[in-house]
Amino acid sequence: MGDKAYILVLNGPNLNLLGKRQPEIYGSRTLDDILADLRSHFAARIRIADFQSNSEDRLITWIQDYGFDEHCLGIVLNAGAYTHTSLAIADAIAAVPAPVVEVHLSNIFARESVRHTSYIAPVCAGSISGFGEDSYFLAVEALLRKKHR
Ligand code: DQA
Repeated sequence: MGDKAYILVLNGPNLNLLGKRQPEIYGSRTLDDILADLRSHFAARIRIADFQSNSEDRLITWIQDYGFDEHCLGIVLNAGAYTHTSLAIADAIAAVPAPVVEVHLSNIFARESVRHTSYIAPVCAGSISGFGEDSYFLAVEALLRKKHR
């Protein structure tokens, strides 16, 4: 793994509200708290870049822009509610060579039935759901294992 290698963590709509958004479901820590812990946990092994947007358009553009970068080992994606609606994000994931790991803080299969369908799961390398912020750690760990790339 070269010095330029990195993993991109993308967060979609409403994940900027972590910490104050339904803490009984999503926990009390902010996205910045989680990302800081993620970076320090993996500091010796991989660089972590991240973006968050409430816009489907921006998420697709980041997948397109970074998904072809040879230094991008993979993308960890919490697409928020777009998970359950966006064929366009699924198409972007399918279009790029970088493996994408779908993550959710909550267990989407233990919630309302509308959340049981993921448009992106079939085109992702794998999905991790229900482990709170640990879902992100497990996704990065999976991408660091060469066989999942
Ligand atoms: C989520 C689950 C989605 O159903 C929801 O719309 C979110 C967050 C999660 O991390 O648990 O915004 O992706």
